[in-house]
Amino acid sequence: MADKITSLFFVFGIIGLWTQAGCGESNNKYDNYTLFRIYPIEESQFEFIKLLQSSNDDIEVLKKSRGYNDSTDVLVPPNRLQSFKDLAEKNHFNYDLKNQYGRSFESPERAPRRRVLRGFSIYEYHSFAAIQEFIDTMASKHPELIKLQTLGSSYQGRKMKLVKISQNPQAGNPVIFVDAGIHAREWVAPSMALYLIHRLVMDPEARKRELRGVDWYILPVVNPDGYEFSRTSKANRMWRKTRSKSPISNCYGVDGNRNYGFHWAVSGVSNNPCDMETYAGHKPFSELETQMVRDVMLSNPKRIKLYVSLHAYGQYLVYPWGYTASILPQKWRKLDELARKVSQAVQNAGGQPFKVMSAGQWYPAAGGSDDFAFGAAHIPYSYTMELTDGFEFVFPENRLRNTLPELYEGFRAFASEIRNEFSNKRFRDHNV
Ligand SMILES: *[C@@H]1O[C@H](CO)[C@@H](O)[C@H](O)[C@H]1NC(C)=O
Ligand SMILES: *[C@@H]1O[C@H](CO)[C@@H](O)[C@H](O)[C@H]1NC(C)=O
Ligand SMILES: [Zn+2]
Repeated sequence: MADKITSLFFVFGIIGLWTQAGCGESNNKYDNYTLFRIYPIEESQFEFIKLLQSSNDDIEVLKKSRGYNDSTDVLVPPNRLQSFKDLAEKNHFNYDLKNQYGRSFESPERAPRRRVLRGFSIYEYHSFAAIQEFIDTMASKHPELIKLQTLGSSYQGRKMKLVKISQNPQAGNPVIFVDAGIHAREWVAPSMALYLIHRLVMDPEARKRELRGVDWYILPVVNPDGYEFSRTSKANRMWRKTRSKSPISNCYGVDGNRNYGFHWAVSGVSNNPCDMETYAGHKPFSELETQMVRDVMLSNPKRIKLYVSLHAYGQYLVYPWGYTASILPQKWRKLDELARKVSQAVQNAGGQPFKVMSAGQWYPAAGGSDDFAFGAAHIPYSYTMELTDGFEFVFPENRLRNTLPELYEGFRAFASEIRNEFSNKRFRDHNV
């Protein structure tokens, strides 16, 4: 039955594609783009990559290298294909490429229809409305574990609800705060956040482990407006920013992860509101969405011991500082050690290990939520987790079922370390 439904929608999908192609130019604009993955192996090639980012070009840099022979991924429109190839060869890059890149995008329209037929699956991508419904349903079914806190509304008026999971909210347990989806196109990140909620609540073992002496605050979609926009068409699938209207131009959106008020805009940002990627906003915390995350951090001083911001992609687990490559926090070794334990746990579960380093080591970028959490809100452990590798921003839905449980093991490791370091003594596994 499931197969029949899938193939049915596959047929609809094809028809949809034809119709849209018939209507003209911009609908599936990525269909004929080529994805280049270039592999820098020497210093001068990093200089070239820096220039790539700052050029006002119609190419789109999806990911930058964080180390030698770690790919920088660039989406190139058909009219630039040959010249970009020439450029890559002239600079002696090893590269590989995927043609007709946009054709691999799944059509988001399938999901709601399937949902009507089969109910909510934790292993599928969902609309923001469906996600809200899932959260509301979970909270009303499990009032003994979940409390929802409405933080406010997004720019376009979508309600933002913080999911607080605790076996004893009065106990003053250390809190793990996880957010996801500040970048619209990174769909696997909200999926992971929902999976966390699902496991913490539905898995009876979690009450003896992940929830023992530790509370969880989870905000699954920090940028709901951008998320919905990225679902409206394949042409918008690569949208990253929020959807606020710029007060100083006709362009939309701010890169929420450049908008936090800690060493704001000192590195790795654009000042151009029309920049599709890294526009920092006209001031720190210009965005309602980043204000709400900030307020969660600042209104729970001392309780939040770990902050994890979920992103995609590249399978990196990075810690402060992001704004600079030239200094590390005094206690960076603790951040590094915990990250490596988490990576090991994911690997033990069959997943890919994380590449662990400071966020700014290879390309500094200021205004990230991890720096603010660590430097301004004084949360002792703070990370950005870039989930998955090999599929860029379009991580296939049919891989969620294997990947999310592997990643969950990393969160189990986080929880046990936070419990052992910060919980009431009776919850600890051993004295540290
Ligand atoms: C992609 O290329 C094909 C073949 O050249 C062309 O028919 C189609 O219109 C192009 N699609 C877009 C969105 O440019
Ligand atoms: C660089 O990475 C690519 C792809 O991951 C791999 O095929 C190649 O062997 C690597 N080269 C070096 C010099 O490590
Ligand atoms: Zn991101």
